[in-house]
Formats: sequence, structure tokens, C-alpha cells
Amino acid sequence: MLEGGVEAIGDGVIRLRGVSPSDTELLYVWRMDESSRLMFRHTGFVSFDSHRAMVDRHLEWGLPDRWFVVEAADKRVGTVSLYNFSEDRRVCKWGRFIIAPEARNLGYGKRALKLLIRYARGIGVKTLKCDVLAANGVALRLYRDLGFTETGAQECAGRTFLTLVVDLGSEE
Ligand SMILES: CC(C)(COP(=O)(O)OP(=O)(O)OC[C@H]1O[C@@H](n2cnc3c(N)ncnc32)[C@H](O)[C@@H]1OP(=O)(O)O)[C@@H](O)C(=O)NCCC(=O)NCCS
Repeated sequence: MLEGGVEAIGDGVIRLRGVSPSDTELLYVWRMDESSRLMFRHTGFVSFDSHRAMVDRHLEWGLPDRWFVVEAADKRVGTVSLYNFSEDRRVCKWGRFIIAPEARNLGYGKRALKLLIRYARGIGVKTLKCDVLAANGVALRLYRDLGFTETGAQECAGRTFLTLVVDLGSEE
């Protein structure tokens, strides 16, 4: 599971491995792409410098957070993360979920989320939460398909975000 100091988990088609400084630019391109940007709470552009500072903080601060790059056939195709861990690390949020526009609808997103759930269960997480734009039908269908259920909704600048939760406690 440890490769060159970087954690990785795979399913034979894709793998999730820890973000490294060399991913900074690609993560920025994916996050700033309009098809991704408009799905998140913060829809505006951020400068590359502030994005780089965020990646650097993630790499330096030693938080329990896990930020992954998704790779398929050794090519980087997306990203996903675990963050906001509770003190006992049994509850956390997951997000920053993006599959590169040219790699969408090939099953990588579903595989990545399944692997993330497997990984989270393996490190003792019992409850995973996320917020999803109510208008993001592709994401909502995918999350519900993998067992997430809706527990609430919040308004944010005129848009509705749904909170979805999955309980990992009793599953395999
Ligand atoms: C949401 C996202 C990560 C899904 O990744 P993906 O790799 O395209 O998803 P998959 O190929 O695994 O497809 C998952 C399911 O969605 C369906 N799907 C994917 N793209 C679709 C589309 N454009 N229209 C309709 N259905 C679609 C697939 O058919 C599949 O359904 P199935 O399991 O019944 O076969 C990707 O669309 C994305 O990066 N979107 C922009 C950022 C975003 O919305 N992030 C989530 C924020 S909460």
C-alpha cells in the first residue's frame, strides 16, 4: 500500500495515490474548468498561487486528510479527497471530486468513489458525508447508486446543496 512514501489503492483499472507537488498544475486546470467549477460551492476563479498554497498546506500540515489523484493506465484522470475528520476520525467529508473532462463517462468516477469508500472503511471511518449541488444530476445518481442517502439541504447564494451520507459501519 505504500509506494515511494505515497499511499495508493487500486482495483486493476484505476488507482488512487496521494497528491504530490507535480500534480499542482493539473489539479488547477481540472478545478478551474467550467464544467467542474460551476458544480462547487465556490464557482469563481482562484489564482494559481492561492491554489498552489492550498496544495502545499495539504502536503505540509500533516492533517488526517487524504487527497488523491486518480490514475488509469498510469495517466492522471481525476482527483478525490477525504477531509474534515472528526476528532475520533470516524466521521469525515469527502469531495474535491473531479474526473478530467476528456475521461468522463468511462466508469472512472464510479470506480474512484468505490475505492475511496473501501479506503475510508479500511482506516476506520464509519460515516462519510458530502455536499452536492442539487442540480448535479450525474453526481447525485452516482452517489445514491453507491448507497448515499440525503439528510439535509442548504441554500448557498441562491443554489441548493444536498447533504448525502453513507454509513460504513455495518457493511463489508
Ligand atoms: C461527477 C463525475 C466525477 C463522474 O465521473 P465519471 O467518471 O464521468 O462517472 P462514471 O463514468 O463512473 O459514470 C457514473 C454513472 O454516471 C453516468 N454518467 C456519467 N456521465 C454522464 C452524463 N454526462 N450524462 C448522464 N449520465 C452520465 C454513467 O453512465 C454511470 O452510470 P451507471 O453507473 O448507471 O453506468 C464527473 O462527471 C465530473 O468530474 N463532473 C464535474 C465535477 C463534479 O460534478 N464533481 C462532483 C461534485 S459533488
